[in-house]
Amino acid sequence: MKKTAFNDDWFFTQQWDDRLIDIQQDDTVHMEAVRLPHTNTVLPFNNFDTDRYQMVCGYVKFFFIPETLRGKRVFIVFDGAAHVADVFCNGTFLGQHRCGYTAFRFELTEILNYGGINLLSIKLDSREKDVPPFGGVIDYLTYGGLYREVRLGVSEKAFIEDLFIRGYADGSFRCSVSCNMEPSDELRIRIFDRDGNVCFPETTVTNGDLSGKTDGITPWSCEHPVLYTAEASLFRDGQMLDSEKVCFGFRTAEFRKEGFYLNGEKIRIRGLDRHQCWPYIGYAAPKRPQQLDADILKYELGCNAVRTSHYPQSQHFIDRCDEIGLLVFTELPGWQHIGDENWIRQAVENVREMVTQYRNHPSIILWGVRINESKDNDRFYTETNRTAHELDDSRCTGGVRNFPGSHLLEDVYTYNDFVHCGWNAGCEPKSAITSDPEKPYLVTEYCGHIFPTKPFDDESHRTAHALRHARVLNDIAAQPDIAGSFGWCMFDYNTHREFGSGDNVCWHGVMDMFRNPKFAAAAYASQSDGHPVLEIGTTMDIGDYPAFMLTETVAFSNADELALYKDGDFVKTFRPTDKFAALRHPPFIIDDFIGCLLETRDHFDAVTAADLKTVIKAFVRYAEGPYSEEMLAAKKRLNDRGIKDEQIHDLQNQYMTYWGDGICTWRLDAIKNSKVVISRSLTPARDIRLDVSVDCCDLSEEDSWDMSSIRITARDTNGNLQPYCSRALKLSASGAVDLIGPDCVPLMGGMAGCCVRSKGVAGPGQLTISCDGMPPVRIDFSVRIADKEELH
Ligand code: GAL
Repeated sequence: MKKTAFNDDWFFTQQWDDRLIDIQQDDTVHMEAVRLPHTNTVLPFNNFDTDRYQMVCGYVKFFFIPETLRGKRVFIVFDGAAHVADVFCNGTFLGQHRCGYTAFRFELTEILNYGGINLLSIKLDSREKDVPPFGGVIDYLTYGGLYREVRLGVSEKAFIEDLFIRGYADGSFRCSVSCNMEPSDELRIRIFDRDGNVCFPETTVTNGDLSGKTDGITPWSCEHPVLYTAEASLFRDGQMLDSEKVCFGFRTAEFRKEGFYLNGEKIRIRGLDRHQCWPYIGYAAPKRPQQLDADILKYELGCNAVRTSHYPQSQHFIDRCDEIGLLVFTELPGWQHIGDENWIRQAVENVREMVTQYRNHPSIILWGVRINESKDNDRFYTETNRTAHELDDSRCTGGVRNFPGSHLLEDVYTYNDFVHCGWNAGCEPKSAITSDPEKPYLVTEYCGHIFPTKPFDDESHRTAHALRHARVLNDIAAQPDIAGSFGWCMFDYNTHREFGSGDNVCWHGVMDMFRNPKFAAAAYASQSDGHPVLEIGTTMDIGDYPAFMLTETVAFSNADELALYKDGDFVKTFRPTDKFAALRHPPFIIDDFIGCLLETRDHFDAVTAADLKTVIKAFVRYAEGPYSEEMLAAKKRLNDRGIKDEQIHDLQNQYMTYWGDGICTWRLDAIKNSKVVISRSLTPARDIRLDVSVDCCDLSEEDSWDMSSIRITARDTNGNLQPYCSRALKLSASGAVDLIGPDCVPLMGGMAGCCVRSKGVAGPGQLTISCDGMPPVRIDFSVRIADKEELH
């Protein structure tokens, strides 16, 4: 089927009216002209009424269908409409789709006006009722609108409905094609690689199935996500009637009792949970930002996996996961609540749609077939498991629960383990949770609401947040029978009043809503060897600690060791802490800011310096005591050597308290293979500036509008984040780009962001970010508009 983008020239109203079913073109003047993806309401960043997007809204589109299409079949394909869509064409009701997270199509063939103008009308109910995930409370917003792309499909009478290919690491594959063909028609399959080289020659398929083996393929893996294309073609009397291509990989993904194996090799899953939302526009983001999130997970956060909590997400996102080798656990829409029989029937249908629409993606390794954190319901879940297995015999099922000993109808016990609260074990042992130790076990959430963390929380809080994530990662890594884990969650998200911090935000992310990393992001980033990482849990400013005393901080790095310097003088070398020994790169505990300075700067002998350090540290930590015997003995030795308490206090002020003691510069060098790979200097800031990271400056409109995300941080001259900088930023877009959201935003925790969108005009565009007291930043964009495909 040939599909043409159908995202432009829609008209929208927040209030559906039955007259939209046969509205005249002139009457659309009362409606808003929109392009898809579209959100039914643009929301503030936080603190709003979530009823605002709950409405029955309407979309209409007039379109010309050429006479040449008479005799063909024509379909309208929606990639996602939140949440219940009634579709009409030329006044005729075509049907209803009752899931906001899966694609659907209706056939228009019989009711089109060929050689004339036609009308599509969509009544879209975005209220949270009747269908999954609705019926209870939900800790995320569900938004509304035609928030994914729409396409018009044209085919001959006979066409290929579906092509499903399972490729395995040994080069074998099984292909199933469904096609409404005549008995004399011929269906052929061939496989080729990314360069177009044929790996499996065109072969006739009988009864819709074909199995075979190709030689010399490269298996799809996280490191080498090599993709192939399978092409099915339908022939009648030697003429090709239709052809369908899908991207796939040759890979063998298995969950075994003792973990997850990709192509026979055990891989520990290390991922984060992701919602599909952005500030202001909710779900309605086009391809580029979807891809960006996958890139951030893999390349910035060093993850090898993502869970699409709690629904199937954009095909653009999953396509990118295929391309870059990010493993995906995707699940049916739902959150704790199970509804009545109709609701359950719809949920089973959602599993059917999810599996059939996503099963060619090599990145997807597991289907979630339970409503997230719902109670046992054997009848329901027997059916969801049966459906998933019947439609895809190559993947395991899981189902996320939040209690131990649940009825295990799935292949993998997937569990949200929130046991860690800062001081205890990072996770439960598998044996304490699963009802069948012979089956695989995977942790699907941790942290999250247990320790919400805002970017503007104080240093100790942000550091504790990061250490909690590291603790869970470590303790899971230490238990070889846990397949891995997903942490809650990738970024902060808008939520309902029952959740969050009274502002419609769950500050649960390791990034903020604009994808700026919090300190906890470094717990993930430092586990990868992709690029040198060094993030420090302090700015070394004294004001963030009681009595201005900082005795210990944490650094995350993938280096071998860290060397600390004070005003250029070497202090000490630190090795990764052995308290997180199961991690590939444990954090560094920086707990000695004196190091060898008493010897090198003040020329004390080694024994005296050691005693001084013991005493100074005890003074700092315990102020008025009680002191340990070791400390008291050291102090006595010092006094015996003529070093009075007064001098010790002076040294304490000089080395540990820094109260009004002038400004010093700390430097931490990360050393790998004896070379400094990254270095950070910390000193109280004199000047700050805006640091702006732009996803992409060259926007391109192909199937729909394009968007670029801009991450903004306030940094000092050493490039360090200024976490308490809370100034207002003025944003102004011009030329070929428009701003999404407000034109004035605050820095929160020293971080902010914004997005610009193309508007159907080619040429240059600018965004200027200004802030009193800092030089403005201007970003130049260019927008390219691809030629529109004509219907013929
Ligand atoms: C879980 C839930 C998630 C999110 C998280 C917050 O129970 O599955 O959707 O609400 O808690 O920590």
